[in-house]
Amino acid sequence: MQFELKNVSKVYETGQENITYGAKNINLTIREGDFMALVGPSGSGKTTLLNLIAGLLAPSTGEVFHKGEDITHLTLEERTKHRLDYMGFVFQDYQLLPVLTAYENVEFPLQLKNIDKEEIKERVLWALDQVGLASFKDRFPKQLSGGQQQRVSIARAIACRPSLILADEPTANLDSKTSQEIIDLFKKLNSEFNLTFIFSTHDQRLIDQVKTVLYIKDGQIADQKEH
Ligand SMILES: Nc1ncnc2c1ncn2[C@@H]1O[C@H](COP(=O)(O)OP(=O)(O)OP(=O)(O)O)[C@@H](O)[C@H]1O
Ligand SMILES: [Mg+2]
Repeated sequence: MQFELKNVSKVYETGQENITYGAKNINLTIREGDFMALVGPSGSGKTTLLNLIAGLLAPSTGEVFHKGEDITHLTLEERTKHRLDYMGFVFQDYQLLPVLTAYENVEFPLQLKNIDKEEIKERVLWALDQVGLASFKDRFPKQLSGGQQQRVSIARAIACRPSLILADEPTANLDSKTSQEIIDLFKKLNSEFNLTFIFSTHDQRLIDQVKTVLYIKDGQIADQKEH
């Protein structure tokens, strides 16, 4: 078992006497190799749930475990290290640094880790090769298409050798053909490396191709479907 959320809730303070539940009594087990989509209307709590799994948000109540270890109460610094060691992130808007080349964007988070230079280089080239962009390594983001930029961001995520990738609406800015290419890449990484993926998405194409769909409503898991 990889990640486990036990009775996790997240309350947002939204002004005097107003509170919003971003997540409510969530119980969820994420296993090695899961390929899962969080689906639900805008404001239902998908991003909140991803952020709780990532440790970017601390739960108001409940606990999060990783490999049996309670990670709910780690310090900010410990949580950052935990994220860097185990998780990769992919976003709707790619979040590449515009002044860095594709190579340098992938290299950047690796430099925050204690890895020697030769290994960093190997990992960057390996990751860019995995996403089919080896020959584009010296291009800047603005010289790449949206789909290619998303590939760079996927390379950046996998170069850190995470066990889990969290992807918030990864295909939302892509046309349907490019979307499918990116989904195929996720599937390849999932089956070749047993890499776990959790998506938040409105993209029916992606929803149809995941193994598990979690329907989120009002911060709760309303339903679950296996494909
Ligand atoms: N930082 C915050 N402060 C206060 N309320 C918040 C905050 N972040 C989210 N919320 C509220 O929590 C609820 C869940 O939001 P969340 O962003 O998780 O939804 P979502 O399912 O990701 O929506 P979308 O599909 O639009 O991305 C919403 O009611 C939202 O307004
Ligand atoms: Mg969201």
